[in-house]
Amino acid sequence: MLLLGVNIDHCATVRQARYRAAAGAEVGNVEPDPVALALLCEKAGADGITVHLREDRRHIQDRDVHRLRETIRTRLNLEMACTPAMTAFALALKPAFVCLVPESREEVTTEGGLDVAQHRDKVARVTDAMNAAGIKTSLFIDADPRQIELAAELGAPFVELHTGAYANSFHGPGRAAEFARLIAGAKQAHAAGLVVNAGHGINYVNIAEVRTLPHLHELNIGHSIVSRALFTGIDEAVRTMKRLLNP
Ligand code: PXP
Repeated sequence: MLLLGVNIDHCATVRQARYRAAAGAEVGNVEPDPVALALLCEKAGADGITVHLREDRRHIQDRDVHRLRETIRTRLNLEMACTPAMTAFALALKPAFVCLVPESREEVTTEGGLDVAQHRDKVARVTDAMNAAGIKTSLFIDADPRQIELAAELGAPFVELHTGAYANSFHGPGRAAEFARLIAGAKQAHAAGLVVNAGHGINYVNIAEVRTLPHLHELNIGHSIVSRALFTGIDEAVRTMKRLLNP
């Protein structure tokens, strides 16, 4: 049974488009509320809720994360940059999982995997701190042999393989090669003792192939689910994705 983590960042994106100033406040007209959406996702079968608290706070806010921590019944997966401020935030929050991601202010979304080789010391420090606190760490990396090797070496129990390049090439000639890279990455990570998650750019079409990746544990999906929910409602959007994940 493959697990589905629903990323609700883009519910907050819609809220911030109108209510940027009010979103951190205790009261006020701050629709749509990502926490309410998270609870509906759980009711529809989501196995976890994922949010990315970005340094620029462009969508999810601190208060959202605290409210999620208090209210959701499944597992909170906090995506975060490897900074001292985010490390302190996560250690105080104690989510079930953190997923370490690269972050640059200019990008529209997380565009590449974490470069564990380049940021080895930083990643090791955060992973050690999370391991000591009983928070499970996942490294969001490209399906690159060196990155996977380092992820295992640093003692992170999970990797999330970046499926963005595959998703972007889905309708083009590069698809088979990108998928082969993901397959090889999943096999290598599993052999190294890592639990294999995947995410980014997964939708209602490419899920049929993505779900066949070997050793897959969980997929984190956001944009396509929130987009579909505009037309069908979140309940249908989550239920359908769950069904496609485990036909
Ligand atoms: N996993 C990670 C680590 C991400 O950064 C993102 C995007 O925020 C996702 C999964 C979800 O990607 P998408 O919104 O394209 O489904």
